[in-house]
Amino acid sequence: TRVLRVALLGCGTVGRQVAGTLLDKAEDLAAKAGCHLELIGIAVRNVNKPREGIPPELLTDDAAGLVANGGADIVIELIGGIDPPRELIVSAITHGASVVTANKALLAAHGEEIYAAAEKNRVDIYFEAAVAGAIPIVRPLRESLVGDEIRSVMGIVNGTTNYILDKMTNDHQDFEEALATAQQLGYAEQDPTADVEGYDAAAKAAILAGLAFHSPVSGSDVFREGITSVSTADIEAARASDCVVKLLAIAKIDEHDRISVRVHPAMVPYSHPLAMVNGPYNAIFVEAANAGRLMFMGPGAGGSPTASAVTGDLVTVARNRMRGVVGPAHSVYQAHQLAPMGET
Ligand code: NDP
Ligand code: HSE
Repeated sequence: TRVLRVALLGCGTVGRQVAGTLLDKAEDLAAKAGCHLELIGIAVRNVNKPREGIPPELLTDDAAGLVANGGADIVIELIGGIDPPRELIVSAITHGASVVTANKALLAAHGEEIYAAAEKNRVDIYFEAAVAGAIPIVRPLRESLVGDEIRSVMGIVNGTTNYILDKMTNDHQDFEEALATAQQLGYAEQDPTADVEGYDAAAKAAILAGLAFHSPVSGSDVFREGITSVSTADIEAARASDCVVKLLAIAKIDEHDRISVRVHPAMVPYSHPLAMVNGPYNAIFVEAANAGRLMFMGPGAGGSPTASAVTGDLVTVARNRMRGVVGPAHSVYQAHQLAPMGET
């Protein structure tokens, strides 16, 4: 059996689940990928932290060295944030490794640089886990729907804020209590400001808009308002009108054929399917000229659901590598202009 060498960067909420699958389900993954996936090292910040089920000899605090000198065929980045993941991913690509990442913050800020580097070096960059956890939405937009003309992509793309709003609405918890639980359950970003102020949803909305409309969109192009100003009184007022408050991400082609992307809290009527999306679940509606309306729904945050998407990408890039091919190009060609933010 052929062997592909896999380097894992990060062993936190998501990384430890991915490591567990690589170690415990090696035979199953090998059968699916057509090769053995050998975990050659796991980069972390603190090698002395106890980590159940992780052989300590795999751990290193030298992520750059693992990427540059480990001879990895595939690098999985699950550290999060811009630095050091940006340099690590570019280094992995220039060393000829395929990359799997869940890092929406990085892709929304520096996606163009990373996609171009992958294209130039003819390696894969897969990032299904970067948007909406376990829900397949990147591949449907990048592949299944690429022949159609997408008009809008909208929905709930942040599990932490959806969990908090759900707990405030249905269990009468206060914001701080619900946020603390979301952090304990592994839904929140390392700095939860990214969740509650809408930056995480804006990053995901930018990635979705780029895929849907074949145009470069970054997180800073997205109008953004988080949920920190949503009060108990707002939630009660919504209830009195048979509505719930949800943090929505909306990307669409406007009446002037320009892209507008925004994230903000909105009142959603009980009768709308989004009103039923609770806890860390996400849901995304896509409207396309020929396909019509599609809905994608499922767990949007948490270690296991996110690891499911990461492992799916891992097997996919391994299959590609075994066949000497790379996956679909990131077809961004400025098909539309962005609407000025103040106008949307
Ligand atoms: P965690 O904070 O739980 O884990 C981060 C890991 O990275 C830790 O193991 C940490 O080491 C390691 N790390 C941090 N800095 C460095 C560094 N400089 N060099 C090497 N290792 C480092 O994050 P998550 O697992 O929650 O998230 C990982 C990624 O997945 C992020 O991009 C996040 O946005 C994304 N994501 C997360 C989801 C979730 O529900 N949690 C869902 C979808 C995407 P140590 O353990 O020693 O501290
Ligand atoms: N913090 C993110 C969320 C993780 O709550 O949705 C999933 O991307």
